[in-house]
Amino acid sequence: MQTRVLAFSDNAIAEAARLILEGEPVAVPTETVYGLAANAMNAQAVARIYEAKGRPSFNPLIVHVPDLDAAQKIGVIEGEALDLAERCWPGPLTLVVPLRERTGISSIVTAGLNTIGIRVPSHPAMQALLRSTNHPLAAPSANASSAISPTRAEHVLKSLGGRIPLIIDGGRTERGVESTIVAATGGALRLLRPGPIEVEAERASGETIEAPGQLASHYAPSKPLRLEADNAAEDEFLIGFGELDGDVSLSPSGDLVEAAASLFDLLHQADASERARIAVAPVPDQGLGVAINDRLRRAAA
Ligand code: TXA
Ligand code: MG
Repeated sequence: MQTRVLAFSDNAIAEAARLILEGEPVAVPTETVYGLAANAMNAQAVARIYEAKGRPSFNPLIVHVPDLDAAQKIGVIEGEALDLAERCWPGPLTLVVPLRERTGISSIVTAGLNTIGIRVPSHPAMQALLRSTNHPLAAPSANASSAISPTRAEHVLKSLGGRIPLIIDGGRTERGVESTIVAATGGALRLLRPGPIEVEAERASGETIEAPGQLASHYAPSKPLRLEADNAAEDEFLIGFGELDGDVSLSPSGDLVEAAASLFDLLHQADASERARIAVAPVPDQGLGVAINDRLRRAAA
């Protein structure tokens, strides 16, 4: 794939919006760092973020929206969190709040959690992209997994060149570090990640927020989960992959993007089934399969 770099302009945003509506991830500047944005309502588009980053595990992603009204449509923002949102948005603040029901946000975005990280960015490029796609955009930093965060289009190109179709070049980002993350999911506000905005909130202890998938609150099924299954016992709900059919399949054609996109939905479905246990077919441990297997091993642990 050839990666195009376009200077921020109306035309560049129109092209980025077109790609995003087609299900592609696009790199775009925000006031903190460059983000790799995809339509948060399209699971396969979000899976492509992980594919491009080569991320070895799934972490819940921040969802970007143009304003507080749009934020309220997907998360429950009230009390102290609402005060903070009114004071700091648009800007480098992310709020983790209870997820509303039937928002259309893909479960791969929240990694199956019932909370969601939401941010209203101030950067005109990200604002323009949000308004022209008219969708919430999931966006982690636009760098390959474990590489440093990108504050210039050149950083993105070096890290993700050949893996994404387009980078919008808005010059150097103003803040240079990722947004402050505050959780408002019951009780007092908790600081999950320090950032450009200083907030009066207790630092969440032991929350290894930067270590992908380490969150204690990560969704795990309530039933025993058996991996690498090539058949299913009578009391097992089988999640198939490729040639191994199950009660449901991660991807009948063996496509890892499709498998990643359906992973959390199928785990929820298996958990809600009448069967006492869950079995999952082998998934090849390469590309996105590494992230899928990492998540499955955590769910099985
Ligand atoms: O400045 C930023 O926030 C950048 C720009 C691109 O907006 N974005 C960014 O996103 O840093 P990301 O996906 O790399 O960081 C997401 C962080 C992760 O550490 C994740 O665990 C946490 O936010 N997070 C997201 N949703 C969460 C949730 N529901 N519960 C707990 N933590 C959550
Ligand atoms: Mg990051």
